[in-house]
Amino acid sequence: MTDLTIRNVNILDGTGSAEYKADVEVEDGRIKSIGNAGPAKTEIDGEGKYLAPGFIDTHAHDDGAFFRHPGMEFKLAQGVTTVVSGNCGFSAIPLDPTKDTVAASGGILAGIEGDFHDLEGYFAAALERKPAINNMMLVGHNTVRTLAMGMERRAPNTNELAKMKGYVEGAMEQGACGFSTGLIYRPGRWSETEEVIQLAATARPFDALYTTHMRNEGEHLLEAVEETLLIGRESDVHVHISHHKSAGQPNWGKVNESLQRVDKALAAGQRVTLDVYPYTAGSGRMIEYFNLDNINRSLAEVIRIASCPAFREYEGRMLVDVAAEKNVELTDLVLEILTAPKGDRTLCIHFIIDEADIETNLAHKDMMIGSDGIPDLNGQPHPRLFGTFPRVLSHYVRDRNILSLREAVRRMTSLSAATFGLTDRGQIREGYWADLVLFDPDTIKDTATYDDPKREPEGIDLVVVNGEIACRGGSHSGVGSGKMLRYRRSAFGE
Ligand code: ZN
Ligand code: CU
Repeated sequence: MTDLTIRNVNILDGTGSAEYKADVEVEDGRIKSIGNAGPAKTEIDGEGKYLAPGFIDTHAHDDGAFFRHPGMEFKLAQGVTTVVSGNCGFSAIPLDPTKDTVAASGGILAGIEGDFHDLEGYFAAALERKPAINNMMLVGHNTVRTLAMGMERRAPNTNELAKMKGYVEGAMEQGACGFSTGLIYRPGRWSETEEVIQLAATARPFDALYTTHMRNEGEHLLEAVEETLLIGRESDVHVHISHHKSAGQPNWGKVNESLQRVDKALAAGQRVTLDVYPYTAGSGRMIEYFNLDNINRSLAEVIRIASCPAFREYEGRMLVDVAAEKNVELTDLVLEILTAPKGDRTLCIHFIIDEADIETNLAHKDMMIGSDGIPDLNGQPHPRLFGTFPRVLSHYVRDRNILSLREAVRRMTSLSAATFGLTDRGQIREGYWADLVLFDPDTIKDTATYDDPKREPEGIDLVVVNGEIACRGGSHSGVGSGKMLRYRRSAFGE
């Protein structure tokens, strides 16, 4: 008998087509039929609700979260059934126990345990924890560069470049979906364009991706977009621009010009896609944004502390408020935080994005949704960790009408699956894996805020991962049916 049937539900199949009403039958992890269902072991009434493919978070830093929080509640509750980890140039693999690559990421990847060094080892170790959702991996430039040449502020020599290429190639052979950079971060910021072209070209035989946190997202956004497009052309790989934005008030509006350049490249036949998170604040490791010899005061003014092992009492507070209360100079406070023991592990939230730019981004047809959530639950994380996907559907679809529901779902599912090489996922189609989300488009809503960021969304009734009920009525089943996915192949271990 069929394992699970969802009856009389409005199906948004992920392709962007209009919804239609039917029953969906699930058996052995896959969608068995769409139409009129017979009896099933578990029956769910979908009347009045919408069923979509599980959402795909194209921009995640969950490499370590699969070890620390295998229940992945913050993603699952949003309807996310697959994440792409290893973004911004930082990946859990390759791992050399004698070298501290995790330190280079400032704790973003912390918590990884297990005796592994490559992608297959990582997959096996992560699967042992019975993850709630699926994971796909990128191999990160900052990580491989740290392994090959430490924190050297120069171009690699021939041996070092060959070593990096070997790491990237090895990861692709084992199923990584691409190569990621974070060119504002250390040590990636010390690389020249040619080095990145050489490494991105390693993805070409696999037809895999080059994803990038570009060298500049503010004053030099347009130059950075040109560099990205050049890397894509020279290496002949599909480029994916991560969290596209114009950072800093003087630069607001530049996303228009940036998207025009992308459109020009698309018209010329280049493969380019992007993603965005639906918030006006960014978040990351605070030490990466400041020059300690010359603290940027205007940036400090828009910063709120997310997590700070050195001063837990600052978490959830704006720096300006802390400075006023302590009666200290704002720039001195920044210095105090960043130079304290473990100060380099401080994560901050910075309000640097214009609301209008988010809407411009979301109106672009090749714009996917990526949370960029940093899964550190100790402090007061950016609400995007818990709220990204419902926020797009409630605020930008329902309230603001920037894009239609079916188009938003397409950009969260089939477009992402096709781009990131998820085999038989991202659509509600017979034979496809049953990653599903049942929700009410009239009530779906993110509830996580900057003041109260660890709240799960409303309006999502059911999330199914590989045919198993992972979350129902807001309660997590703990079934752990997630898989480690390989680019355009069967999942790891299958
Ligand atoms: Zn980034
Ligand atoms: Cu990121």
